[in-house]
Amino acid sequence: MKIAILPSLLAADQGRLGDEIARVAASGADALHLDVMDGHFVPNLSFSPETAALCRRTLPEGFALNTHLMMTNPEAYAERFAEKGSTTVQFHLELRDTVNVRALAAALKARNVRVGLALNPETPAEAAFPYLDVADEVLCMTVHPGYGGQAFIAAVLPKIAALRGRAPALDIMVDGGVNDETAVAAARAGANAFVAGSFLFAQADMAAAVARLRTRCEAAFGKGA
Ligand code: DX5
Ligand code: ZN
Repeated sequence: MKIAILPSLLAADQGRLGDEIARVAASGADALHLDVMDGHFVPNLSFSPETAALCRRTLPEGFALNTHLMMTNPEAYAERFAEKGSTTVQFHLELRDTVNVRALAAALKARNVRVGLALNPETPAEAAFPYLDVADEVLCMTVHPGYGGQAFIAAVLPKIAALRGRAPALDIMVDGGVNDETAVAAARAGANAFVAGSFLFAQADMAAAVARLRTRCEAAFGKGA
């Protein structure tokens, strides 16, 4: 499977966002990951649709913008992020009793936007099974969402393996505490897409780190826990 590496803008120098977005564009990464927090679904606030617009006009044409909505009401905002240039919008399946997952997925598809379904560390793989037909990717959180710089939760690895067993061709992404060791563990379990914030932005040479991460994940992918 194709391995994808996604730097997370949450770990960027917030005073130089334009430069940091350009750094990601030049790094050889596959997409930029944009975290949106509402202070309700998670106890923090982060970026807005205007940040998505800044990303869009700073990134080269065609560069993927992967937008992760950590918000209680994604139905009210997902299309705004699509309008501002997100190429994937991810929303959380913990909300499946209050959010119409299929309707929101259909609204995104109608705009030619990819659909990502996100799972918190405690949410089982089975929560995603009924919706795999509308998912372009499943995002497995490997930290409790809300903050960058937390430690990778290895207890999520069996869930990744369960999803991979169920959906051999699905894009399975991990997000939280990803570095070049934890990414290898996730790749072995079956993840093929890797969001990394603090690890990649701390590098003096982001491009070299992206290339190394990609090589290591390619070698480890699907090799088993
Ligand atoms: C956490 C966010 C992540 C965050 C990851 O709530 O969803 O995307 O940026 O940061 P690191 O890689 O530092 O754990
Ligand atoms: Zn994220």
